Amino acid sequence: MTAVREHWGSRMGFIMASAGSAVGLGNVWKFPYMAGSNGGGAFLIIYLGCVLFFGLSLVMAELAIGRTTQLNPVGAFRKLAGRSWSVVGGLGVATAFIILSFYVVVAGWTLAYVVFMAADTFGGLNVDQNTTIFTQFVSSPVQPLVYAAVFTVAMIGVVLGGVASGIERASKWLMPLLFVLLVVLAIRSVTLPGAGAGIAFYLMPDWSQVTAGTWGGAVSQAFFSLSLGMGAMLTYGSYMSNEQNLPRDASMVVGLDTLVALLAGLVILPAVFSAGLEPGAGAGLTFMTLPAVFAEMPAGTIFGIAFFVLLAIAALTSAVSLLEVVVSYFVDEKGFSRTIAASGAGLVIFMIGIPVSLSQGVWSDVTIAGKSFLDFADFMTSSVMMPIGGLFIALFVGWFMGPRAVEALKSHPEQSMPLAGLWLFILRFVAPLGIAWILIQGFFG
Ligand code: PFF
Repeated sequence: MTAVREHWGSRMGFIMASAGSAVGLGNVWKFPYMAGSNGGGAFLIIYLGCVLFFGLSLVMAELAIGRTTQLNPVGAFRKLAGRSWSVVGGLGVATAFIILSFYVVVAGWTLAYVVFMAADTFGGLNVDQNTTIFTQFVSSPVQPLVYAAVFTVAMIGVVLGGVASGIERASKWLMPLLFVLLVVLAIRSVTLPGAGAGIAFYLMPDWSQVTAGTWGGAVSQAFFSLSLGMGAMLTYGSYMSNEQNLPRDASMVVGLDTLVALLAGLVILPAVFSAGLEPGAGAGLTFMTLPAVFAEMPAGTIFGIAFFVLLAIAALTSAVSLLEVVVSYFVDEKGFSRTIAASGAGLVIFMIGIPVSLSQGVWSDVTIAGKSFLDFADFMTSSVMMPIGGLFIALFVGWFMGPRAVEALKSHPEQSMPLAGLWLFILRFVAPLGIAWILIQGFFG
């Protein structure tokens, strides 16, 4: 176990690094297509409800566990409650592995798109032609894996170099840059001809589209986007100092993550409608439609390159937090060196990433429960493992820690916590019942 634990250099550093974990492919790649295939505005409202009703409370719960124990997820649960609860931390470590196996593949796509943009691949092409390029690229056996390998190496490199100062410093200027770029792109997108239908689809809820699947999708998306239920926030909380106002800073992180998702929807969906495409096109939406938007913009190539570079960086800061969960476990609990833990885990992740990447092409016929490896890994983590982890974290903090958890939120004993009762109520009842209901719907509904 490390004697002196590293801490964030500043409050802003913590907020930007944690927002760096939360803001990633989930916001820019996943959120718009989830909204697109789940009824648009109705999904948006249900998603916001999930964030408000249990997302923020769970982020605070994880940060509180991390900050009081100053340990990795497995060690943290063991310290507070003994061996059996440490299984929840173990589930988190396993979840991180599986998420990373598809995260590095999709992050590789964004790297490839930087290169494609720079080579002006999409100049003068329409969305149909972009779709062909995308499909050909992801289904080819080797090329996507080369990009996934590059991304994996970068991810390992950052974790080896130490997360706190590297990631913290990088996140502090990269996150605002990503934000500004998204605002510019959103303005461009909503002013495209025919974009109005997309804005209406996105902002005006059509409740007739809502099914049990919409609710499940929103819950899964909230977990994935907020990096919840698997110990990433817990690990970042373990680098937090007592002086930080935990509820306020957690709200900032959640607010930033939500804002970026909302903006990404406003970039993608109006552009999809403007191009006359189906919003339910699924996972390829960002990659097929955005290049057409850039192709029409003045200086579109520059914007396109910048967008995919920043998306890759957003993915990197998220992937680093995932790998950090795994590494902190192997270093703290198994006595591995940071170098061995990060490179070994990175190698295993890449190996699992191989079938995931091939599932988009030569292995597309191989399915588990009717899903490709990529969809299955995504489904298992965001719709099953993260909600189950979140359920146990809510029960743990709400019932097992109870008033002790409220103390853990405080920077000093006299600090007043006016909404502490509401927080515990959510963790004790609202979150567990809501999540359990969604899980049961998912399996039997
Ligand atoms: N929140 C990230 C995203 O939205 O892309 C994904 C993620 C990062 C999930 C870290 C879980 C995690 F621990």
